[in-house]
Amino acid sequence: MSPVLDERMLDFISHSDAQTRRLGARLAALLRGGEVICLEGELGTGKTCFAQGIGKGLGVEEPVVSPSFTLIREYATAPSRPKFIHADLYRLGEDDLPTLGLEEYMTAACVVVIEWADRMGASTPEKRLEVRLRFVDDTKRGLTFVAYGEEHRRLLDAFRQSMFGAGEMGGER
Ligand SMILES: Nc1ncnc2c1ncn2[C@@H]1O[C@H](COP(=O)(O)OP(=O)(O)OP(=O)(O)O)[C@@H](O)[C@H]1O
Ligand SMILES: [Mg+2]
Repeated sequence: MSPVLDERMLDFISHSDAQTRRLGARLAALLRGGEVICLEGELGTGKTCFAQGIGKGLGVEEPVVSPSFTLIREYATAPSRPKFIHADLYRLGEDDLPTLGLEEYMTAACVVVIEWADRMGASTPEKRLEVRLRFVDDTKRGLTFVAYGEEHRRLLDAFRQSMFGAGEMGGER
C-alpha cells in the first residue's frame, strides 16, 4: 500500500518456536535500553515465545511467563544490560491503562516488550518497534517488523544487517 513503509519493514517466516525464540534473542543483542517492542497477533501466534527469546538474549535467568494477575513484570538481566519489562495487555480493562505505569518504564534503563499492544489504542507509544505475528501453518509463523521513529528505525536497520549482512538491501552489488 505505502511504498514509504518499505525500508521501515522487515519480514520473516519462522519455522519453529525455537526459531522464533532465536529471532528474539538476535534482536536482544542489539538492544541498549529505551526500546519499546509492541507484539501484535492472534492467540498462539508466538508473542510470548518471541518475548522469551528477547529475555534470554538480555540474560534473564528466571522463566519468562505471561503475567496473569499483574499485567506487567520486571526481570533482572545480565550485568550492564537494560532491565527487561514484559507486559501482556490481553486482560487490560478499560480503565487500567492510566494506572498501569507502563510509561514509567520507557526509559534508557529498560527494554519494554508489550504483548497485545494493539489494546493500547490511542495510547500506543509513538516510538516503537512493532512486531506483527501471524499463522502460516502449525509450525510456521510470519513476523513483520515495522519501526516507528528514528531510533527504532536504526534498530531495525541494525537487525536487518545482523540477519542478512551488508548489501542485502541492494546497495552493494
Ligand atoms: N514458528 C513458531 N513460532 C512460535 N510459536 C510456534 C511456532 N510454531 C508453533 N508454535 C507454537 O505456537 C504457540 C505459541 O504460543 P505463545 O504463547 O508464544 O503465543 P502468544 O501469541 O503469546 O499467545 P497468547 O495470545 O495466548 O499470549 C506455542 O505452543 C508454540 O509451540
Ligand atoms: Mg502470550
